[in-house]
Amino acid sequence: MSEVTPEAYGTVLITGSLSPLGQAIAKKLSAEGYRLLLHVRNDNEEARDFAQSLGSVLLIRGDLSDPASLRNIADIAIDKGVDILINNAAVFRPVALDSPAYEDQWRAIMEVNITAPFLLSRLIGLDICRRNKMMGKTQTGHIICISDAHSEEKIFPGYSPYLISKSALNSVVRSLAIELAPHVCVNAIAPGIIDTPSSIPSNINRTNLISHIPMRRLGVPDDVATAVSTLLKQTYCTGAVIPVDGGRSLI
Ligand SMILES: NC(=O)c1ccc[n+]([C@@H]2O[C@H](COP(=O)([O-])OP(=O)(O)OC[C@H]3O[C@@H](n4cnc5c(N)ncnc54)[C@H](OP(=O)(O)O)[C@@H]3O)[C@@H](O)[C@H]2O)c1
Repeated sequence: MSEVTPEAYGTVLITGSLSPLGQAIAKKLSAEGYRLLLHVRNDNEEARDFAQSLGSVLLIRGDLSDPASLRNIADIAIDKGVDILINNAAVFRPVALDSPAYEDQWRAIMEVNITAPFLLSRLIGLDICRRNKMMGKTQTGHIICISDAHSEEKIFPGYSPYLISKSALNSVVRSLAIELAPHVCVNAIAPGIIDTPSSIPSNINRTNLISHIPMRRLGVPDDVATAVSTLLKQTYCTGAVIPVDGGRSLI
């Protein structure tokens, strides 16, 4: 596992990089030659094995709900010359409206799903602007937030904090796209139902689910990784929330 140099072009920080979508994005971008800074909550054996499988990777450990830890993640990434941020980490869990722990759960979800991506984007986005201005460069940085296709169209009882956080994340994308232009493209990928361990409860009929998806299949993590890779190859799309849901949100 070799260290990433600050001079490297296309240095990517991926938060929650051990999650199914995080891993798929990391594998694709690594194969395409990007330098990877992989954020993980715990620097354990699984994290080190995954990093080693990709070669030139730096692991950055930290709890995104802790302000000091968040600042440390940003500082390390900036020191390594990050110019692409993928805000992928999130908390996805139902909270019953009458739960006695509702307020704590609400705060926990908002910290990771909205405060952390916004503050990380602010710190890293401002640094990209500062470096561009200092060096007289026009090179475009990228921030991509992994949102959720259900955040605008559908309401699922119990998932209000999660859906509200993702809806706010779409708003972050539009605000920062303006505030960080012309130095950074800021966009969101909004996945539909991606076939990952946490996304489909065991009591849900998959055949019935697929029948409501125009492309007639569930998404796979690589569908999201491909969308991320495609967005990184362009410099004129900004402020967009792009559904990757097989057309499900259209019907
Ligand atoms: N899977 C889907 O079908 C689907 C659909 C729509 C949108 N999405 C979005 O896609 C993204 C990835 O989803 P996924 O299913 O691959 O991920 P996931 O299994 O939900 O994992 C989320 C990741 O976030 C990390 N994380 C959570 N809280 C953290 C904290 N306080 N500090 C540091 N890290 C923290 C987790 O770390 P630990 O492993 O240590 O907990 C994990 O790596 C998420 O933003 C999700 O909302 C997914």
